Amino acid sequence: MRVEAELFVAPDGGGAYRRCAELFVEASAAAISSTGRFTVALSGGSTPTELYGLLSGEAYRLRISWQDIHFFWGDERYVPPDHADSNFRMTKESLLDRIGVPSSNIHQVVTDREDPAQIAAEYESQLVQFFRLARSGQPRFDLILLGMGEDGHTASLFPETPALQVKDRAVVANYVEKLESWRITLTPPAINNALHVIFLITGASKASAVRDVLEGPYRPERLPSQLIDPVKGRLTFILDRAAAGGLSAPSLSR
Ligand code: 6PG
Repeated sequence: MRVEAELFVAPDGGGAYRRCAELFVEASAAAISSTGRFTVALSGGSTPTELYGLLSGEAYRLRISWQDIHFFWGDERYVPPDHADSNFRMTKESLLDRIGVPSSNIHQVVTDREDPAQIAAEYESQLVQFFRLARSGQPRFDLILLGMGEDGHTASLFPETPALQVKDRAVVANYVEKLESWRITLTPPAINNALHVIFLITGASKASAVRDVLEGPYRPERLPSQLIDPVKGRLTFILDRAAAGGLSAPSLSR
């Protein structure tokens, strides 16, 4: 893990979400003023739900030029878009339906296909077209939001799975034995090509994974979050005190 990773420890989850929301406002304003658009790959799971609700709520909604933002996903489950486990559904309910963005700004992982590899290939070709990529080029997202599992996974890069080794693709289908399910995920090189990657991690259940990823030996096969090291970008960890509980000396951030 690059030592220049920024670490922000908030006293509680609310402080972590607010910090992340402020960075989202800053990053989107900077990108839109320099390129006219902001490209963000959103994380799934449950942690970001509260962040998305905050961003689309009174305190932040009017501070963000939503119509200039293009929404992608860092990963998706192999389920229909209206399934309880769908990251798209979670994002739609907690964010997209509340801010009203043009449908052309929403770049969904289309999952109603038989073959997970076809889903991955179609999502990858969306990225190729949108980012005008050359062969085996990588998208350069302005921001990628990530969470971290208790096993140190991020996006759908789970320990000891094939996606960890991929170097020449931006998106792959990744079979996760322990979940007995397929996932679609950005690959490490795609994530590491971003301008800014933010891990948003809250709760005591993540404390040992956070400690192992940030302070333990480099074992990316076992701790895939250690693969995340933007080549020419910022890396920020936003934690609450509970998730930072295992770190050697996490001083609270102001
Ligand atoms: C997913 C996410 C995944 C998530 C972690 C943490 O699709 O589940 O992309 O990487 O960020 O599993 O999940 P929680 O926030 O629910 O703890």
